[in-house]
Amino acid sequence: MLCSLLLLLLVCSTQATHFYGTVMTYYPKTPHTNGSIEVVLRYKLNFLSCDDSDSWTCFLGDCGTQSVELHKVEESSGEWCQREGVMTRQVPSNAPFYLELSGGNWINDVVNDISSWEALTLVELRNRSDTNEANRSPQTTILPALRVPSNCQRDFNLLAFDPDGDKVKCRYGNTSQSECNPCTPPSVLKLSPSCTLSFSPTDSSDEGPYVVQLVLEDIPQQNIILTHTNGSKELKTSNDPISKLPLQFVLRVDGMVPFCTEGLYLPKFLPPTPANRARLNTPVNQTIHIPISAEANTSKYVKK
Ligand SMILES: *[C@@H]1O[C@H](CO)[C@@H](O)[C@H](O)[C@H]1NC(C)=O
Ligand SMILES: *[C@@H]1O[C@H](CO)[C@@H](O)[C@H](O)[C@H]1NC(C)=O
Ligand SMILES: *[C@@H]1O[C@H](CO)[C@@H](O)[C@H](O)[C@H]1NC(C)=O
Ligand SMILES: *[C@@H]1O[C@H](CO)[C@@H](O)[C@H](O)[C@H]1NC(C)=O
Ligand SMILES: *[C@@H]1O[C@H](CO)[C@@H](O)[C@H](O)[C@H]1NC(C)=O
Ligand SMILES: *[C@@H]1O[C@H](CO)[C@@H](O)[C@H](O)[C@H]1NC(C)=O
Repeated sequence: MLCSLLLLLLVCSTQATHFYGTVMTYYPKTPHTNGSIEVVLRYKLNFLSCDDSDSWTCFLGDCGTQSVELHKVEESSGEWCQREGVMTRQVPSNAPFYLELSGGNWINDVVNDISSWEALTLVELRNRSDTNEANRSPQTTILPALRVPSNCQRDFNLLAFDPDGDKVKCRYGNTSQSECNPCTPPSVLKLSPSCTLSFSPTDSSDEGPYVVQLVLEDIPQQNIILTHTNGSKELKTSNDPISKLPLQFVLRVDGMVPFCTEGLYLPKFLPPTPANRARLNTPVNQTIHIPISAEANTSKYVKK
């Protein structure tokens, strides 16, 4: 049995107060003969401190019963704490349902003026006519904060892969659909539907932290039919999203640096670091070693 492992390599780092965003993906199990199905939802919860926490609740539909485990993933010199949650839900049928995370507050002094957090996942488990299996969500992950000097052009290629072969579309959240509260996008970023965030050099008055609240959707390459446990069917065309996931984090626009060349002020990845978005295959239960190396000749940076 092989599982794929996706690598996210983005130049990044952090600091500051409370919520640092979240991301969620899901993995369905084979349905039971009585129609009930188990789904494993994996999420990241990012806060300033590991003492802070929040839990996902049922927003709409029958979310079934749940069991949750939280593991600490990474803590970087007390700047933030990222934890991974593994939530197993048993639902009575493959009917779609929504999970929500909501509370307050994001970190302080957010330039695009977001204080409350809200994130929404649409879990779609109906049987797909192309795979004969429950729909699987896109796969993605993110660090709590990304950084960029205000005078440097940077493209952030976000991780967006779909195990069913669907197109993955990235868009900003929509406030009236409760995808964030509110969803005001950062003025300093341009988002392409293929999940690249582009930052262009900007004025030093734009420096500071921005909250980025994205939604990822899987869209079939051609028409498919979703079949409910009770036999009812729904057509999804190549314009229709199937599931949706939140991808929320902080972008820090730092002070100017004298040079934008990678390897001087901005770190540069060195061989044998695998490429961003690389897919590595490994047998289940076998430890995988991933060598990562980077340099920045001038380790000092100008910070606001
Ligand atoms: C369906 O079967 C599973 C596995 O046998 C069981 O755990 C679950 O409680 C059953 N659900 C219902 C609604 O009967
Ligand atoms: C999906 O439907 C196909 C065809 O009806 C069936 O063979 C398959 O077992 C179903 N899969 C699941 C996961 O329900
Ligand atoms: C946001 O959602 C509302 C309600 O579903 C919809 O009418 C509106 O067009 C959406 N806005 C955007 C920008 O897609
Ligand atoms: C099957 O269940 C769905 C969701 O609960 C419902 O909307 C639909 O009317 C049901 N269809 C049939 C044929 O019972
Ligand atoms: C950084 O310094 C090393 C050693 O002096 C040099 O080989 C390398 O080319 C430098 N990197 C850049 C991007 O200037
Ligand atoms: C992986 O290891 C765990 C713990 O040793 C075991 O319970 C599980 O069955 C193993 N999974 C596979 C697919 O070998």
